[in-house]
Amino acid sequence: MSMAENVPDPNPELLTAKLLQVEEIAVDEEEFHHLNNPAESIKPIVKKYLGTPNHSEQSGNKIFFSDGDAKVEILVVTNEIIRVRLAPHSVFLEEFSYAVPQLPQRHVEFTLLENDKEYIVATPVINCHIRKQDFFISFSDKNDTITSSDAVPMHWEENTQFGGYYVFCTKTCQEQESFFGLGDKATEFNLRGKRLKNWNTDAYSFSFNQDPLYRSIPFYISLNDNVAHGIFFDNTFKAYFDFAAEDRNRTSFWADGGELQYYYIHGPHMMDVVKNYHLLTGTHPMPPLWALGYHQCRWSYYPENKVRVIANGFRQNRIPCDGIYLDIDYMDGYRCFTWSPKYFPNPKKMIADLAENGFKTVVIIDPGIRVDDNYWVFKEGKEKKYFCRRCDDYFMEGHVWPGRCQFPDFTNPEVRAWWGDLFDGLVETGVAGVWNDMNEPAVFGSGSFPDDVRHQYDGYRGSHRKAHNVYGMQMVRATYEGLRKQLKNKRPFTITRAGYAGVQRYSSVWTGDNVATWEHLKLGNIQLQRLSVSGISFCGTDIGGFSGEPDGELFTRWIQMGTFSPFMRAHSAGDTKEREPWSFGEPFTSINRRFIELRYRLIPYLYSTFWEHHRYGFPILRPVVMQEQDVLMNHFRQDEFTYGDKILVCPVLHPGQQTRNVYLPKGKWYNFWTLDMVEGAQEITVPTPLDIMPLFVKAGSVIPEYPVMQYTGETEIEEVKLNIYYSDYEVKSFLFEDYGETFAYEQDIYLEKKFVVKGDERKLTIKQTMEGLYTPRYEGYHFKVNGLPFVPSRIVADGKEVPTISSNADKTYEFKFTKNFKQIEIYK
Ligand code: GLC
Repeated sequence: MSMAENVPDPNPELLTAKLLQVEEIAVDEEEFHHLNNPAESIKPIVKKYLGTPNHSEQSGNKIFFSDGDAKVEILVVTNEIIRVRLAPHSVFLEEFSYAVPQLPQRHVEFTLLENDKEYIVATPVINCHIRKQDFFISFSDKNDTITSSDAVPMHWEENTQFGGYYVFCTKTCQEQESFFGLGDKATEFNLRGKRLKNWNTDAYSFSFNQDPLYRSIPFYISLNDNVAHGIFFDNTFKAYFDFAAEDRNRTSFWADGGELQYYYIHGPHMMDVVKNYHLLTGTHPMPPLWALGYHQCRWSYYPENKVRVIANGFRQNRIPCDGIYLDIDYMDGYRCFTWSPKYFPNPKKMIADLAENGFKTVVIIDPGIRVDDNYWVFKEGKEKKYFCRRCDDYFMEGHVWPGRCQFPDFTNPEVRAWWGDLFDGLVETGVAGVWNDMNEPAVFGSGSFPDDVRHQYDGYRGSHRKAHNVYGMQMVRATYEGLRKQLKNKRPFTITRAGYAGVQRYSSVWTGDNVATWEHLKLGNIQLQRLSVSGISFCGTDIGGFSGEPDGELFTRWIQMGTFSPFMRAHSAGDTKEREPWSFGEPFTSINRRFIELRYRLIPYLYSTFWEHHRYGFPILRPVVMQEQDVLMNHFRQDEFTYGDKILVCPVLHPGQQTRNVYLPKGKWYNFWTLDMVEGAQEITVPTPLDIMPLFVKAGSVIPEYPVMQYTGETEIEEVKLNIYYSDYEVKSFLFEDYGETFAYEQDIYLEKKFVVKGDERKLTIKQTMEGLYTPRYEGYHFKVNGLPFVPSRIVADGKEVPTISSNADKTYEFKFTKNFKQIEIYK
């Protein structure tokens, strides 16, 4: 069997078309004998493979290998990251990537070795092998374990529709290799056996296994035999991934055009891979603290009075809420940056009143600008020629909510700057955040823009084939950068539906138009874990389901899961029934309240976890396989995840479920509700009545807690509660504090606190160290110690006896001490 037969073809119809084409040529040749018959010189389309590398040359961190015609560039990015590029005719594209704005600037010591069989580019951590016989590229670690290896040489094939090449890379797949990542794919967490496509798509009411959806994140993690590596295929064209679906021994990725360019990112731990992926593509900036609260949305709350009624409903029901959303009906005829004079005659006053009551107003802004010469945004965009054009040079038009629209070319930096400035009016009116929707881009009828639409692409030019997948990301980038400018030193809040790798630098995301079913609750749980390991930690689902009607039970289970979604927002379509946390009556209202309150209590923990993400590249949600990648069974677990690294969450995903099995990774865990201590590395069965979602806290944790407020900052924090969970081994915890809404953290104005907890049968010690320039206003901590195996006789804090210790019926102990303590000992 030839190699070509084994390589997945991009599209079976294409293959048939190609065969037909070859046959037709043969007929033509027999029937017509024109001297200059152009058909004579047309060769059948076949895949072309790299030949043998016959020489190498080096320039800085780049090493080039050539087979005489095609060239391959190996770039040593860091000790753990190597980039591979292919130029079929030796001409590489200019370096430009929306995903990787700047390569990490690090000095790397590497060597180029050569023997009879191969060239080896060796860093202190990994080796990249280039086999002389056939140009196979493989990677190994310092234990000589081959982690990734070509199954056929890199190859390409003419794409006649495009006038360029399809580009392909096919790697061998190991017997027990698993795959994770790729963003928001609506399928099982482990991607082995799946073939998936990246092409941003408006997927209203998507179903399980529907593909593609709203985002394109061409990054996956492979895990085999306890060694993980990542592949980031930085190509914005329509792209495909085949994880041992067509051939169980092979994994391929390919695209309809662009350059074959991928980063090999070494682990060996999945966490290392994700951190290094963030090193390339960036992390989320710190959100304003309020954005970590609860958000209420609906298509649409209008008129103004309805918004006020909803806001008051939260305060009357004593259910905390920070964000309130205005969907498309707030606008005048769906014209972006306008207000409906009928429904919102005085938006500034309304927003001010809402703000007075603790609500931050977030408004939707779509990319389609209504064609209307009496509308200033359209007029300006038209005059400045800022809208996208077709290849025949006229402005491209399509229908969306406002009717006939033209669309800004967000890949043009000048257009982005213009767009950013358009937000001055909204900011002046008091808007605190912006929701970018329909930016796949979605167009009614056709789905999206025609392929031939041209884009400026930051000066590198491209058709929509190349710009489609980055359009939404560049839109929300323009929004974020504009808001950042308008809000001076305050952190903007943005949310987007579409995105490409790196979108996290500008926005949070939600998973789009889901459905009010139990299956979607399960899917949302998987999607959020997947987004989290794919670089997008600040993510959430439409709680309750966008379309369809949840009953009280489903809504409550969704609120429970949403309490542990990094972004927590309820949203629903306009043709559904009321969907506020009190809409279903008792017992649902009380349970929803209790969980939303828990969200607020845990805000300092989530905020600290966010900092760990922003500063160090840790994902916020961590699937079980990331905790224990050496356990094969965990490759298939997708229900449980940890929120940060201390709280294990296990959503209840079935109606009427009274108990469920929970897997606890190794170590000791406390049941959050009962405080019972449980040994990990086992599955246990726990009760799941409606008011309980299984939660476990790692022994040794210090979980910081704020008092419940109706919105962040409602009152000054007077003390922070520290929940200490006894452990007989040493555990570190972490608390991050800063102003919460400015960019002062970029000037190092923040405080990082580390707690170390260690106990034995006679004593529990808690140590604190602090680093940073920020001073919180509160004075003291309120300690609550859980799981002590003894009754404390005395507590010594920084050498002083703590006078008052209160003990509770559940054998927990509470006391207070200054926030600046260094060491506390609790004695038997
Ligand atoms: C899209 C969005 C949805 C929004 C609706 C109206 O369907 O995904 O969230 O409510 O448009 O703007």
